[in-house]
Amino acid sequence: MRFLCVNCGYIYDEALWDELDGIEPGTNIDTLINEDIPCPMCGGSFDDFSPIEDEILYAENPHKLNHLELEHIPHVVYQDAERIEVSIGKELHPVSDDHRITAMYLIDDEGHIVEEIFIMPDEEPVCEFDVSGLDIFELRASCSKHWLWSSGLIEAV
Ligand SMILES: [Fe+2]
Repeated sequence: MRFLCVNCGYIYDEALWDELDGIEPGTNIDTLINEDIPCPMCGGSFDDFSPIEDEILYAENPHKLNHLELEHIPHVVYQDAERIEVSIGKELHPVSDDHRITAMYLIDDEGHIVEEIFIMPDEEPVCEFDVSGLDIFELRASCSKHWLWSSGLIEAV
């Protein structure tokens, strides 16, 4: 998730390594509030940050992906009843400092996050999820430049 500092406009992305304040990627905003870590830009409290709801993008035509969709829609490489291997996307998304996939999510059929995996800088956007117990699920990927992308609903095998 991303959060906006309402005092100064600084955006905190839980998936990103923020060198400014030395925060580990994957640090939940509640941890920053509890530890009284100040906003790195204005010194305000993380209590004053508000969540940013990213628009979720789907393939307009799943059978004919455009260039952006080919690089961003989560792509199933392997699937069985227990696990799924995923790449972002069908043509692997580029990896550079200012443009990369920062996180991948397994979502249940009610839209809740079952598991989130943060992708470190220089890491390729491929991962595995445990899907045992899920009949239907969805995969999402967050790009540092191009928003949040969804596979649409996928049936378990
Ligand atoms: Fe991108």
